[in-house]
Parts: sequence; structure tokens; C-alpha cells
Amino acid sequence: MQAKSQKYMNLLSLDSRFSSYSSHERFVLADNHLLPLYPDLLSQLKALAPGGVLLMDADENIKNIDSIGKIWQFLLSRNATRHAVLICIGGGVISDMGGFAAATYKRGIAYVNIPTTLLAMVDASSGGKTAIDFPAEDGVIYKNSVGVFYPPIDTIMLPDWLDTLPTQQFLSGYAELIKTLLLDCESTFLKSLSCLENYMESTANVSEVFHLAKHALAVKRSIVTEDPFEQGKRKVLNLGHTIGHALEEMSLTEQHPIAHGYAVMYGLIGALYLSVTLLGMNRKPLQLLTSVMLRYYGRPQCTCKDMYGLLACMRNDKKNSLDLNGHLQIRFTLLTQIGTPVPDHIVLDDQIVQAVEYINSL
Ligand SMILES: NC(=O)c1ccc[n+]([C@@H]2O[C@H](COP(=O)([O-])OP(=O)(O)OC[C@H]3O[C@@H](n4cnc5c(N)ncnc54)[C@H](O)[C@@H]3O)[C@@H](O)[C@H]2O)c1
Repeated sequence: MQAKSQKYMNLLSLDSRFSSYSSHERFVLADNHLLPLYPDLLSQLKALAPGGVLLMDADENIKNIDSIGKIWQFLLSRNATRHAVLICIGGGVISDMGGFAAATYKRGIAYVNIPTTLLAMVDASSGGKTAIDFPAEDGVIYKNSVGVFYPPIDTIMLPDWLDTLPTQQFLSGYAELIKTLLLDCESTFLKSLSCLENYMESTANVSEVFHLAKHALAVKRSIVTEDPFEQGKRKVLNLGHTIGHALEEMSLTEQHPIAHGYAVMYGLIGALYLSVTLLGMNRKPLQLLTSVMLRYYGRPQCTCKDMYGLLACMRNDKKNSLDLNGHLQIRFTLLTQIGTPVPDHIVLDDQIVQAVEYINSL
């Protein structure tokens, strides 16, 4: 992985946050990729969690049941009891897996997220969704198809992690940040686009991004608090994820995974296109986001032309349901305008094909 720079991180100051846990009941699950970027990190992790430190090379390919087995084995071998705490330090792959392992180990132990990617800061590390990817019998891997709602007892945000993020990972997280602000209001959406441009042109620094990330997190939390188990309002957070997850699943099955946030960016373009064509949304946000996508993210390089496979993935989306005749309906979150989402909007196959063709045509 290409590092921007090395950075010193002081995690020992967090010790007091874990004082209610016996030191031998503190365990760390961390992304191994962080070690070369942060001198002294391993010794700090060992001091923070005398119970034990498990390092994993985080990427989407390891977000599977084998890795969960390794976490369970790690905890069992170190005699972790139900009073243990698992401190998850990494991006969304680590927090999704750590949360799922914590939820299921001895019927549930506490866990804390310390997100190290922008994506995990604005999205994955809070809200209580934990999951792994799992294949169907035909080998197609379905994203987050097995998991539970199980919130961390704490999420500790430290801006310094952002300093070492490669540009691609930064942009991946930024797509989720933009998604959340599309649910908020026009002014924060526009601010997110200008902040991105400034950051990419090196005229904005990490602290401005972190400030906006904290705002996006607050928007997400206010939605999640009203609907922790995604029975209603929380579905709006899936904006961009119907097409996005399908693109991501296809790329995962073909063993060329694209970053989650890139898939979300393409999915957002599709969702805004459908919002314009089906709900009469003003075209301007679609135009603005399309130009951001072309400028920074590039065109999708995966299998967006494989409509049949994409629709099959979308049919397996967790948001779907059967109608009274037993037909499966693909549901999207769309917008009538920025800040006014419409969850559960049924979209027909040919309308989805048009949206994917629009993305392909850019
Ligand atoms: N649970 C949720 O609500 C939720 C929400 C959104 C996304 N997700 C999940 O999150 C995952 C994507 O998260 P992600 O993009 O953070 O993935 P990730 O954890 O794989 O991290 C991406 C890459 O960044 C590296 N990295 C991590 N921190 C770094 C740092 N500070 N400096 C340099 N490199 C660093 C990692 O080693 C990895 O290579 C997906 O699996 C997605 O499904 C979950």
C-alpha cells in the first residue's frame, strides 16, 4: 500500500476509556496495514490490550466467515469471558467483522470502534450494522448478507488517521460523506463538493474534512437513533447502495474488488438519475455529482455492462420484499430534492437498465 507519510499516533491516552475493563479482558483487533504507517503502534496496542492483539490484513476479500472463525479462536484461546471488550482499530472491514465476532462470541461481548478510514469514520463505525460477505450456492458473493445489528459501546474518532490515507481510500470514504449530506440539505451538499475540490487541490487540510465528517456522522446518528433496526427511516441511508452494492458484488465475485465508496459514487449517480427521471428532481445535483465523479473517481471499470448479473445482485438486496403475488420488487432510496429522500421506491428492471446505461455512457 502506498503510504502518504509516517505519523506518530498516541493511543495510550485512551487507556482511561477502558478502565472499567480488567486489563486482561481487553483485546485488540487491528488492521495489520497500519503498522508500517505508525511507528510504535504495535507496542501501544499491546499496552492498551494486555489480553492480546490480533492483526489482520484488511481488505474486502477477508470479510468472510473464515476470518470470523479466526477472531473467535483468538478470543477463546486467550480465555476471553463475556466481560471482555474487543477494541477494533481499522476501516470498515475491521469494524464490520469485529462487531459481528463480538456480537456472536459467547452470545455477545462489548466492542469499541476506532475508525482509521474516512469511510469508517462517517459511516461504518457507528450505527450498529455488523456483517460479513457470504456466497450463495452458485458462488456469487453477496455483500453483508450475514450479520446482526449490534452497536459498539463507543466510537473513538481521531483525525490523525486521515493523514496517511491513500487518495483512493480518501475518495472512497468521501463518497459516503457526500451521500449523507445529500440527505441533509443543499448547503452542506455544496460544501462537501467544494471541500473535496479544495482538498484534492491541496488548499484544504484534513481538519476541514474531519469537521465535515463529524457533521455527516451527526446526520447519520440522528437518523439511526430514530430507527436503529432499519424498519423505516433508516432505509434512506441506502441512497446509492442498490446499484452500488450490485457493482461491488460483481467485482468481488470476479475477484477484482472495487472500493466500497467508488461503488457508492456510481450508485449515487444512478440514484440521482432515477430521481430526476422518475420523481422530477432538479437535474443540477446530478450534473454536479457527475462532474465530481468524472474528475476524481473516473468511470466505473467493472462489469456494469453485465445487466443480468447486476439485476440478480439487486434482487438479493436486503431492502427488497415480495408483493402479494410473490414477485420480488427492487426498491431504491431516491430523492425528490436534496434533503427529501423517498425510501422503498419500487423501480422496474428496464428503468434500472436505463440508469446503468446512463452511468456507462458518461
Ligand atoms: N456497517 C456499516 O454501517 C457500513 C457502512 C459502510 C460501509 N461498510 C463496510 O465498510 C467496508 C469498507 O470500509 P473501508 O473502505 O474502511 O475498508 P477497509 O477497512 O478495507 O480499508 C480500506 C483500506 O485502507 C487501509 N487503511 C485503513 N486505515 C488506514 C489509514 N489510516 N491510513 C492508510 N491506510 C489505511 C486498509 O488497510 C485497507 O487497505 C466495506 O466492507 C463496507 O461494506 C459498513
